[in-house]
Amino acid sequence: MARYDWKELYDSMDGCTKCRLCEQRNSIVIGEGDPSADIMFVGEGPGRDEDLSGRPFVGPAGKLLDKMIEAINLKREEVYIANIVKCRPPNNRAPELSEAEACLPYLRAQFALIRPKIIVCLGATAAKYIYDENVKITRDRGIWKENKGIWILPTYHPAALLRDESKKRESWEDMKKLRQKYDDISQKA
Ligand code: URA
Ligand code: SF4
Repeated sequence: MARYDWKELYDSMDGCTKCRLCEQRNSIVIGEGDPSADIMFVGEGPGRDEDLSGRPFVGPAGKLLDKMIEAINLKREEVYIANIVKCRPPNNRAPELSEAEACLPYLRAQFALIRPKIIVCLGATAAKYIYDENVKITRDRGIWKENKGIWILPTYHPAALLRDESKKRESWEDMKKLRQKYDDISQKA
């Protein structure tokens, strides 16, 4: 898939039935943002608002993500935002392994097209499929990992911060690390 251009990627996803999440979806939520962004945020999968609008992270968790991005002086339009699965899992359950595996080629194609320097994994599901299958988000969050020249940072999902305010302090530490890494990388470029 790495040789796809954007149109081919969009065409290949049109009407996708590669997993059963196609059955109840309203929209395929591909992602949005700067197609040459240095930073990509990856969540789990669309929720209700995303399924209805076709856009990633536009519900309550998305509003918080916007604030997190703005808090480190970036704009939502400057980054790219996507998910592990592009169709909403029923009742917002976590995607199953087979669903994630069916959908991951699309995310990999997005990585290949965007070529981000930094990937932020929002929550355990994103971290599991991008960072390490044995990830424990409470243990591993805030720890950078480099893979083929790309810096990967796992952190809490904004929905987890909405459920448990006490995680916000650690989340803020991670966002500051993200800003620092972005500045370091930008200086070298
Ligand atoms: N949660 C996610 O993981 N992704 C979205 O796009 C919205 C909520
Ligand atoms: Fe296709 Fe991904 Fe939707 Fe499954 S979740 S139907 S693989 S686009």
